[in-house]
Amino acid sequence: MDGSVGTVQPQSEISQGVKASNRVVILGALSAIAMATARIYAKERAALVLVGRNEDRLKALAADLKARGAVQVHVAAMDLEAEAARAEQHLGDWSALMGGVDHVHVVYGYLGTQAGASAEPAELSRIVTSNFTSAVHWCEATANVLRKQTHGSLVAVSSVAGDRGRQSNYAYGAAKGGIALFVQGIAHSLAGTGARAVAVKPGFVDTPMTDGLKKGGAMWATADQVGKALRKAADTGGPIQYAPGKWRLVMAIIRSVPAFVFHKTKL
Ligand SMILES: NC(=O)c1ccc[n+]([C@@H]2O[C@H](COP(=O)([O-])OP(=O)(O)OC[C@H]3O[C@@H](n4cnc5c(N)ncnc54)[C@H](OP(=O)(O)O)[C@@H]3O)[C@@H](O)[C@H]2O)c1
Repeated sequence: MDGSVGTVQPQSEISQGVKASNRVVILGALSAIAMATARIYAKERAALVLVGRNEDRLKALAADLKARGAVQVHVAAMDLEAEAARAEQHLGDWSALMGGVDHVHVVYGYLGTQAGASAEPAELSRIVTSNFTSAVHWCEATANVLRKQTHGSLVAVSSVAGDRGRQSNYAYGAAKGGIALFVQGIAHSLAGTGARAVAVKPGFVDTPMTDGLKKGGAMWATADQVGKALRKAADTGGPIQYAPGKWRLVMAIIRSVPAFVFHKTKL
């Protein structure tokens, strides 16, 4: 493990400071949505492992979360796509640091552009690898842990873009739709075990990822709103959740529009 800023404590000390239900791994911890989720866990005096690419930023985030109440914060600097094949090993290491893992949040992702994906095979691969091909390994490794321990949760971030293929972002949408199906299948496989899996589908969220878009208006949410939804999804609700919830209805309508009408739009 790289860059741990937490202290590895014996099991007895851990159980004094951290509720056994609040040992959390956040993959893509430097995302605006992930940071919002982490701040909620910090307030609950959770133990956290923050995983992202930039060690200095992870350490700064760790210090902030400790100040907000987190009992332990460890950081692991790595490229989550490159390390996906070693997901099981990493999860085992992080579990050992905290005396167990209760919740794993898979938040990292890459939007890219459809124009780029159509023009450049490497860009198409990057979008699909970031949002689906690598993420499935982290999800499956988590599912294997959850199956054995029969408690805890996997919460992976999908997107409303995964509900219907659209000309403006079908590479990203397909990858996000795929990860939602994958996690839905994990949820089915965990049914009755006491553990759970959830794919959260945000709509438009004001984060660095969407800085290229025109923002504002009723359809935009804040990172804090979606971070709250991710935290809640770890404990309650069905395997597919929309954030904010109104997107469930919006997407049901969009999915139901017949192709001959939909194809007249530029969405
Ligand atoms: N914003 C929206 O409107 C929206 C809507 C639906 C779903 N989502 C999803 O929500 C999640 C969080 O995104 P966000 O909106 O919070 O955007 P963000 O702030 O831009 O966060 C994306 C994060 O993913 C990290 N990341 C990407 N590839 C990585 C890799 N290989 N290894 C480690 N970290 C990696 C980035 O790390 P670096 O900082 O190192 O680049 C960045 O911190 C994503 O899965 C996104 O697809 C967002």
